[in-house]
Amino acid sequence: MKENKFETIAIRTQAERTRQREHSVPLYLTSSFTFDSAQQGAAIFNGAQEGNLYSRFSNPNTSEFIQKLCLLSGYEDGVSTSSGMSAVYTSLVAFLEAGDHIVASKNSFGNTLYIVKNIIPKMGVDYTLVEVDDNQAWEKAIQANTKLIYLETPSNPTLKIADLDFISKLCKTHGVLSIVDNCFATPYLQKPSTFGIDLSIHSATKYMDGQGRVLGGVILGTKEHVKKCYEFIRRTGACLSPFNAWILSKSLETLAIRMDRHCENAFTIAQWLQDQGQVHGVTYPFLPTSPQYELAKKQMKLGGGMVAFQLNGGEKAAHHFLNSLQLHSLTANLGDSRSIATHPASTTHSKLSLEDQQAAGINPNFIRLSVGLENVNDLIDDLDQAIKNAKPQ
Ligand SMILES: Cc1ncc(COP(=O)(O)O)c(C=O)c1O
Repeated sequence: MKENKFETIAIRTQAERTRQREHSVPLYLTSSFTFDSAQQGAAIFNGAQEGNLYSRFSNPNTSEFIQKLCLLSGYEDGVSTSSGMSAVYTSLVAFLEAGDHIVASKNSFGNTLYIVKNIIPKMGVDYTLVEVDDNQAWEKAIQANTKLIYLETPSNPTLKIADLDFISKLCKTHGVLSIVDNCFATPYLQKPSTFGIDLSIHSATKYMDGQGRVLGGVILGTKEHVKKCYEFIRRTGACLSPFNAWILSKSLETLAIRMDRHCENAFTIAQWLQDQGQVHGVTYPFLPTSPQYELAKKQMKLGGGMVAFQLNGGEKAAHHFLNSLQLHSLTANLGDSRSIATHPASTTHSKLSLEDQQAAGINPNFIRLSVGLENVNDLIDDLDQAIKNAKPQ
């Protein structure tokens, strides 16, 4: 049979039609599912028969969301979670035991680093942090008891790129599990499965929703790996609500078209920022001047919707800039249709010590833009006036 392309799969993968012959998949707001007989209940409970039991375990809306993402990402199986953080936490805890060691990227989301540094050590798990783009450091950090490698690419917020081919081969050589947070790229721009990465996780809250409405997460991988995560979620309860799954699955229908425009706008803005005298350190994976341009091109279809830069004049200038914005929103989210400006040092990464912020490349004058879907000229006009206002007097 002909294999459909990304956009078609995203639109045409749907839960089975009911007797109502609906065109759009309905919302299954039900905590539990009934059995036709005691025997059927027993068979579903013991796994002899497939079927929904209870929405903490599965639900037609979460199943559709997962099935669609498996097809879009090239992974065999998946499990949805209540948020991106529950996907991060589950992907670690489901595999770790006391005495294990992990290697994680220093350039990770603040809460992820919090889990690595403050929660898993309580389970007796040791860790080493490395720069996400330093292949030698990854190799050097592996120990006899290393269970897994964890990273984000592009990283939040510094947009550093990990070499997925290298990481995957390194993990296979040492019998270590590889986990990649693919939140910034989405399966449309980057497929960690094609590099042999074992598990790919996402905060679906970001580009998968794309309109800043609901929280959600997903873990994708082989049946064997996903089973461990599923068992953990089914028992501990960090499951995705049917309502959020319904929103997210419908949003995936427009992921490709939205990502194309996010990338186009972000690239235009990154190029424009490079010409602004009051700005330095403009980072965007697909800028030809980026030191990681070739690697980004190898791994990603386009450069993504996130841009980072530093303002001359330190934290004061950064605050002036943010307070002068009229169109961009000041909020902690990203991947929204509305453009967002963030000051990671005082918000998303504020729980990190100054030393850790610096290690992660987050200076007080560092700004992260989540470039939305507005007209790019309006966005540039807003940035232009805010940069001019941020000028040290
Ligand atoms: C890269 C990355 N991973 C995970 C998360 C956590 O996702 P959530 O907010 O859905 O829990 C975020 C949130 O910003 C993120 O940027």
